[in-house]
Amino acid sequence: MSLRFDLTANAGGLAYKLLAGLVVPRPIALVTTLDAQGNVNAAPFSFFNVMGTEPPMAVLAPGDRDDGTPKDTAANLMQNGEAVIHLCDEPVAQAMVQCARSLPPGQSEITFAGLRTRPAELVRPPIIVDCPVALEARVMDIRRYGENRLVVLELLLAHVREGVAHPDTWHVNYANYVPIGRLNSPDGYVRTVERFTLASPRN
Ligand SMILES: Cc1cc2nc3c(=O)[nH]c(=O)nc-3n(C[C@H](O)[C@H](O)[C@H](O)COP(=O)(O)O)c2cc1C
Repeated sequence: MSLRFDLTANAGGLAYKLLAGLVVPRPIALVTTLDAQGNVNAAPFSFFNVMGTEPPMAVLAPGDRDDGTPKDTAANLMQNGEAVIHLCDEPVAQAMVQCARSLPPGQSEITFAGLRTRPAELVRPPIIVDCPVALEARVMDIRRYGENRLVVLELLLAHVREGVAHPDTWHVNYANYVPIGRLNSPDGYVRTVERFTLASPRN
């Protein structure tokens, strides 16, 4: 016997709890953006994934705040359309979580979390050097569905820490890349340490 849960009748808290617990592990995007004054904002999003490669695309979904206003990341992306999306491993996990705080306007999560940055090449938000992977990105589309904002970004330029991918083949070496994933909210995470291979059909 299976349990039935009407997602449409329970949209909101319980649906979030169930879906965010079941659809796991999710990659975590730590996203830098700039506000109108040029302040750097950083926030993690696990309603996130890469959605295609021609063009290279990612989607993230910042939910609105309880008062109906967009989160800073969404507001900044609506305003200037530029971001750097970082993938996170365990050494950066604690700082990533600190970036989920709502700080007063003008106070950067980057400084608060003790993260270090350097300029990106194609967009104005900075790269967090503590993260193993940074993807420079520009907004293609933002749509609002109820309290969700769906942000579609074109991925422009990847910065990959030395050793994580081969410089010629771009084959990823998981001995040097151990991203964390989001498990159930609010505090669950997973390490990607135990792996296996399974041959895909070749025809
Ligand atoms: C691991 C993790 C994943 C998160 N994923 C999301 C998400 O997918 N969507 C969302 O709206 N908030 C998510 N949050 C909460 C936001 O990071 C948090 O609301 C943050 O303050 C938003 O920052 P901003 O207002 O600077 O954009 C997540 C938090 C953590 C710790």
